[in-house]
Amino acid sequence: MKTALITGVTGQDGSFLAELLLSKGYDVHGTIRRSSVDFRERIAHLEGRPHFHLHYADMGDSMSLCQVVKNVVPDEIYNLAAQSHVQVSFDSPEFTADVDATGVLRVLEAVRLCGLEKSCRIYQASTSELYGKVEEVPQNENTPFHPYSPYAVAKLYGFWIVKEYREAYNMFCCSGILFNHESERRGETFVTRKITLAAARIAQGKQDKLYLGNLSSLRDWGYAKDYVECMWKILQHDQPEDFVIATGVQHSVREFCYLAFKRAGIELEFVGEGADEKGIDKNTGKILVEVSPDFYRPTDVVNLWGDPTKAKEKLGWDPTKMTSFEELVNLMVDADMEKVAVERVGDHVRTNLAEYLEKGIVK
Ligand code: NAP
Ligand code: GDD
Repeated sequence: MKTALITGVTGQDGSFLAELLLSKGYDVHGTIRRSSVDFRERIAHLEGRPHFHLHYADMGDSMSLCQVVKNVVPDEIYNLAAQSHVQVSFDSPEFTADVDATGVLRVLEAVRLCGLEKSCRIYQASTSELYGKVEEVPQNENTPFHPYSPYAVAKLYGFWIVKEYREAYNMFCCSGILFNHESERRGETFVTRKITLAAARIAQGKQDKLYLGNLSSLRDWGYAKDYVECMWKILQHDQPEDFVIATGVQHSVREFCYLAFKRAGIELEFVGEGADEKGIDKNTGKILVEVSPDFYRPTDVVNLWGDPTKAKEKLGWDPTKMTSFEELVNLMVDADMEKVAVERVGDHVRTNLAEYLEKGIVK
């Protein structure tokens, strides 16, 4: 039985990866942070299961990381923990650098200090945000990086320190340069989930309007459950190498929005341009989507489009056999329609969140 350690197991990807590794017969250990709220929504169904263990550790705390690596003695580490929100990284740049850049170094050093550098394989959750202000489309492993946010700059350090430890110490450590991947478990302030939740709430009369930022931004969106399989494949490969994982298909935020509302039973028509653009309900003429500059970023990445040829050739990644864009939108909307249906009107936490999102207080 192999032993895996997942940092960030409570996150979207961590929860899917834990399920995958358990299904493959791994002993799975995950790191969690102390929180005043004990309920860990995405992994609640796994807690208490045999071969699933949790440990306290923080990416900002070397000692906690060393201790967990020493106690678990993992064969594989999946380093997913990060401050993962690009817009938040402009508000908390130092925290983001500490967790997303220096945190990677702490994991690598923990492995060395525990004498596991020959036996432990390490996956680093790298990102298409490294391409940032893109220098070519589509982007592959040879495309120059041009990070365009504090988050991306921190992740760039993570990418290079992993490469450095691979070359300097011959460690099996690799980066997956993953393009955006979403799911029904996606954090509620990322654009896709914000849209699917709002579409569900508006369709059920629980929200009036959705405010978004740049509707023309382009992303290569896939399904998170498909992508965690690639993380595992990257560590099973015979050589430690970095891989782009993407669908190879690009869509705009506007398109995502249109399809999500359609699935919720509302046909939108977009009129106007830039900050004046609006999404209007074709049936009622009501304005349901508006642009709010609150959601513009100081520098925005607007043209991500991945070329996964290397992963196709070496890992057998076949995006045509995976969840399509339309299927992704539909499964997210369907899940949120169910979730919103049981939301109590008196549930002040939810109600406040919807209101805060709408007014732009929370991004
Ligand atoms: P996510 O849902 O935001 O999960 C992030 C995880 O990191 C959570 O478990 C979080 O714990 C943990 N974390 C944050 N700060 C921490 C700290 N200081 N110490 C320990 N743990 C900490 O992110 P995701 O979408 O699953 O993404 C997983 C990884 O892939 C991230 O590194 C992200 O940057 C990267 N990535 C994601 C995408 C994507 O499209 N999803 C694409 C490329 C790369 P709490 O639950 O306690 O907050
Ligand atoms: N969050 C958000 N909210 N984004 C909006 C909004 C809005 O109201 N309106 C437009 N957008 C645009 C953003 O400006 C961005 O161009 C795009 O939608 C996607 O934003 P996010 O969903 O927040 O994701 P991201 O692409 O910035 O970052 C995600 O993907 C990266 C991989 O490329 C995160 O998961 C990162 O952790 C990940 O590395």
